[in-house]
Amino acid sequence: MGNIVVSLDIGSSKVCVLIAEMNKKQFNILGVGTSECKGVKKGIIVDIDTTVEAITNAVKQAEQMANMNIKSVYVNIIGGYTTLYKNKGVIAVSREDKEITQDDVKRVLQAAKVVAVPADKEIIDIIPEQFIVDGYSEIKDPVGMVGVRLEVDANLIVASCTTVQNIIRSVQKAGLTVDGIIVEPIATSTVILNDDEKELGVALIDVGAETTDISIFKKGSLCYSKVIPVGENHITNDISIILKISSADAEKIKRQYGVAQASMIKNDDIIKINNLAGKGQKEIHLLEVAEIIEARLSEILYIIRNEIDKSGALNSLAAGIVITGGGLFNIKGIQDMAQSYFDIPVRFGYPNFIGVANPIYAAAVGMAMYELKQKKTSSIDYQSMHAEKEIAVTEEEDYEEKEKHSIFTKIKEFLADFF
Ligand SMILES: Nc1ncnc2c1ncn2[C@@H]1O[C@H](COP(=O)(O)OP(=O)(O)OP(=O)(O)O)[C@@H](O)[C@H]1O
Ligand SMILES: [Mg+2]
Repeated sequence: MGNIVVSLDIGSSKVCVLIAEMNKKQFNILGVGTSECKGVKKGIIVDIDTTVEAITNAVKQAEQMANMNIKSVYVNIIGGYTTLYKNKGVIAVSREDKEITQDDVKRVLQAAKVVAVPADKEIIDIIPEQFIVDGYSEIKDPVGMVGVRLEVDANLIVASCTTVQNIIRSVQKAGLTVDGIIVEPIATSTVILNDDEKELGVALIDVGAETTDISIFKKGSLCYSKVIPVGENHITNDISIILKISSADAEKIKRQYGVAQASMIKNDDIIKINNLAGKGQKEIHLLEVAEIIEARLSEILYIIRNEIDKSGALNSLAAGIVITGGGLFNIKGIQDMAQSYFDIPVRFGYPNFIGVANPIYAAAVGMAMYELKQKKTSSIDYQSMHAEKEIAVTEEEDYEEKEKHSIFTKIKEFLADFF
C-alpha cells in the first residue's frame, strides 16, 4: 500500500470527496463520493450547515467505497479568490559538509514567507519557482546538492481570512481536519495539463456551475488567476426563465437535448413537459432551447477571450487554451464553437481514470495527484482490504493480496465453524 490522500472539492453545484493512493508511481483511485450542495454560491461558502451536510454525505460514500475512515482532507480554494505574491528567501546551508538537506529547503521557504500581508488576508501556501545554489539558478530540487548559500524564488498564495476560515470551519464541523488548502488551478493543472503546455504558456479555463476560473501558466508556474462569476447555471436559469419552466426541467432539457449552436438543430423538434402550474403540458421547441444556449455560450466565450486578452497573455499562449470543469464540456458541439472563438488551439481536458472520467472531477483528482506527487498523506483508518483496490494494484501485489485474502477467508471460515 502506498501513500494515501483524501481531497475535498467544494464546488458551487456539488461537493466531491476522493480517496487516492500512489503505489509504486501508479495513481489509483480508491473511493469517490459526491453530494449536491446548495451552501456554496459562486465558489464561496455562504451556508456552513448545508455545506457540512454535503461534505458528510460525500465522505460517507467515499468511505464506503474504499472501506476506510477519513480523518483529514486537502481542500480547494478557487484560484481567482487568491492573490500571488512573488518573494525571495535566502539562508546559509546548515550542515558542515555543506550538503543541502530537506530541512534547509523548509528553512528557505519559511524565509520567503516573511512578507507583510494585509490584516484581512493570510498566506495559505508557498510554491517554489526555482532554487538558486551559490548563484546557480533554475534548480527544481536542491536536496543532496552542495552549496553555501541557498536562495528560493517563490510564489506566496494569499487569500481572504474569511474565505479560508469558512472552508476550515465547514471541514471541521464535518468532523475532519484540514491537511492543507490548495489553489484549485495548480491542482487541476496536474491532471489536465502536461509539463510542456505549462512551460510554453497555456490558459486553463475551468467552467463550473457558477464560476469560470481563468488561470495562466508560463515557464511551469501559475502566473495569473482570475475568477468570473459565470457558469453553466446561467444557461439553466436562462432556459427556465425564458421558457417559464422549473429549473429542474430546464437542467434535464439542457442535458438531454442541449446543443451549442442553433444551426445544429436540423428539424425543429418539439417536446412536451408539464406546466409549472401543474395543469396540462407545455410544448418546447428544441430550436428555441438551442438559441438560448448559444446566446449564453457566446457571452461566456466572449468574456473568457476578453479576460485572457486583458491579462496580456493572449498572443503568447504557445500551447493555447485548455477547457475543463462540468460547465461547458458536456454540451454537444461546444468543441467546434469554442475553437471558432479563439485563433489559438483549444482542447478540452478531463481526468482519464475509470469512474472519474468527467471534468466535474478535475479539481478533486488534481488535488489528490498534486499532493501525492509531493509524497504527502492524509490521515485515515483502514477498516479492511477492499475488493476495488485489488483491481488497481500491480500483478505481483495482486497475487500477494489474493493470498492474504484467501488466508483471511480461511481463518474466518475456520472460526465460523465454532460459532
Ligand atoms: N451531462 C451533463 N450535461 C450538461 N451539463 C452538465 C452535465 N453534467 C454536469 N453538467 C453541468 O456541469 C456543472 C457543474 O460543473 P462542475 O462540477 O465543474 O461545477 P462546480 O465545481 O460544482 O462549480 P464551480 O466550479 O462553479 O464552483 C453544472 O452546471 C451542471 O449543469
Ligand atoms: Mg469547480
